[in-house]
Order: sequence, then C-alpha cells, then structure tokens
Amino acid sequence: MRIAFVGKGGSGKTTSAAVFARYLAALGRPVLAIDADINQHLGQALGHDGRAPRALGTDLPWLKDHLRGANPLIASADQMIKTTPPGPGSRMLDLDPSGELLTRYAATSPDGVRYLVTGEFDEADIGVSCYHSKTGAVELYLNHLLDGPGEYVVVDMTAGADAFASGLFTRFDLTVLVSEPTRRGVGVFRQYAEHADGHGVALRVLGNKIADDADAAWLHEQVGDALVGCVGQSAWVRAAERGAVARVTDLEPANVAAFDSVLAALDARERDWAAYHRGTVAFHLRNAEAWGNRAVGTDLAAQVAPDFVPAPVTSPTH
Ligand SMILES: Nc1ncnc2c1ncn2[C@@H]1O[C@H](COP(=O)(O)OP(=O)(O)OP(=O)(O)O)[C@@H](O)[C@H]1O
Ligand SMILES: [Mg+2]
Repeated sequence: MRIAFVGKGGSGKTTSAAVFARYLAALGRPVLAIDADINQHLGQALGHDGRAPRALGTDLPWLKDHLRGANPLIASADQMIKTTPPGPGSRMLDLDPSGELLTRYAATSPDGVRYLVTGEFDEADIGVSCYHSKTGAVELYLNHLLDGPGEYVVVDMTAGADAFASGLFTRFDLTVLVSEPTRRGVGVFRQYAEHADGHGVALRVLGNKIADDADAAWLHEQVGDALVGCVGQSAWVRAAERGAVARVTDLEPANVAAFDSVLAALDARERDWAAYHRGTVAFHLRNAEAWGNRAVGTDLAAQVAPDFVPAPVTSPTH
C-alpha cells in the first residue's frame, strides 16, 4: 500500500512521512520510504546521518534498462519515458530488500526503515532539464512495483502543485495533505482536491502543529470529513530536530493516535489493479502526445500492451 504526504511548504510533510514510516517499522510492518522532494531531508528526519544513498534519478539509463527487462514493445532505454507502462516481459518489482534495485539504491535508517532518494536538483539540470525528470524515476519505479496489502511505501512529496506535472499524484492508495490550521494550509488542500478531481485520488487531511481544541475545530469546520487526524505541537519532534535520539515509541500518545488513524485509513483502501493500470496508460498516452513522441521520434502509444494488467503473483488474476 502506498501513501504520499503532500501539502504547503513547511507544513510538516517530511516530519509526518518520517514518523509514519518509523511507526510502521516499530509495528513490524515492511516499509520503504521514498524522498521525492527537491530538498532532500527525509533521510535526516529518519535519523540517518551518514552519506546520502545513491539517488534513483541519477542513472536513468540503468533504471530504464532494468525495468524494461525483456519487454519487446520497448526497444531501448532511450525509448522509455517516465510514463512508459510495464508490459509482458517487463521486470516487475517487489519490496524484498535483497532485490537488485533496492540493494543498489536503498539506505537503511537507524531503526530499520529502508529508503530511497530521487536526487537533488543539481547544476547539470539547470536550463536543460526540470526536476520532474527526477521525480519521473519515482513514477517509473512505482509503475513497476507489485506491492500488496500489509507492506507499505511512504512517499515524501514535493510542495505545492508540482506533483501534477505527471501522473505521479495518481499512484497512491492514499494521499495525505498535511495542513496547519491556517487559511493557506486549507487553501492548498482545496487546490489539490480540485486538481486531483476525477482521477480517483483518495485525499485526506492530517492537521499538524495543532495547538488546542479551537485549532482542531476550525480545521474540521474547513475540511469536514476529509480530516483524518490531528498532530499537535510536538516536543518529541522538536527534540528530534535538535538531534536528540528520539525513539518513535516515545512519541506523545495523542500524536500516535493521529498516525494510527492514518494507518487505518490506508489499510481500508483496496487497490483495483485494472483501474490503476488504465491510469498508467492514460497518462502515458497524454505524455506521448504532448512531448514524448516528438522527443523520442517514434509513436510511444505502441508501447502499450492492450491486455496487460500488473498484479501481484498471489492474485487470482495471475
Ligand atoms: N508536529 C510538529 N510539532 C513541532 N514541530 C513540527 C511539527 N511538524 C513539523 N514541525 C517542524 O516544522 C518544520 C517544517 O517541517 P517539515 O520539514 O516536516 O515540513 P515540510 O512540509 O516537509 O517542509 P518543506 O516544504 O520545506 O519540505 C520543521 O522544523 C519541523 O521540525
Ligand atoms: Mg520536506
């Protein structure tokens, strides 16, 4: 199951994603965290202070070759764009940490959370590229991942509307918009809901830095039943920011309850693989038409295998 944390800059996306991932690990659930933000702070929030892991977005030819596997519809890595869907022969992935991709790219935080980073926006990107080519690596990764119930992918997303530059915003079972009890936070929620409308996105709001009951009541009045829980001003978070070794099991009980509600909302979701893959294909065709066909010099619609639906091997459809 996949969850994305989105919201206004500074609202607490990275903090929430890190705490949620660590909470899942403490519960003994398999979890992979992904830093898909331009400013890569998730590793630090997970308590990792060593060298950043190798970034998923830095060697796209390797990633594309790995994922296309023996798919005859994709002639070469050069012909693979961020939305190219998997098909027969593609290498489908699981969350086994000993797999080739996770061995190459994942780092492990002190309390056992594996995580991937997309890579910072660097010098070489300026003027010739855009950050979306790096988040494109996450989109490709997720489109080839056969994750099932009881295993979790937690993504720290980039602030604001950047998530809509591709189909990435539709790749999650649950999207949690982190909002402080402010008009700007709620404004970002409304804008996100508007952009996501019609794309089958399950969107909930996690209140953050909620000081008192009046804050919580105001936020509830603004977003209604979309509110999944409220995290308070947390001394635990502040201590962690100062570098204290904070165990997630010591997080304030009221805040644990908020993350528990998030987990319940995520576990209640069920992925419809056929609908999910229809989304993959629809975004691919849009991207092919808008820029991909021109960029690659071939008709990328031919990469779509008509009857292919990705599904975990345990599924009866396989
Ligand atoms: N519940 C909380 N209690 C206390 N401090 C918090 C809480 N949530 C977040 N913070 C603090 O607020 C600041 C911003 O949080 P964070 O970096 O998680 O936000 P973000 O949405 O990821 O920001 P950016 O848009 O820059 O990526 C940090 O200093 C963090 O420690
Ligand atoms: Mg952040």
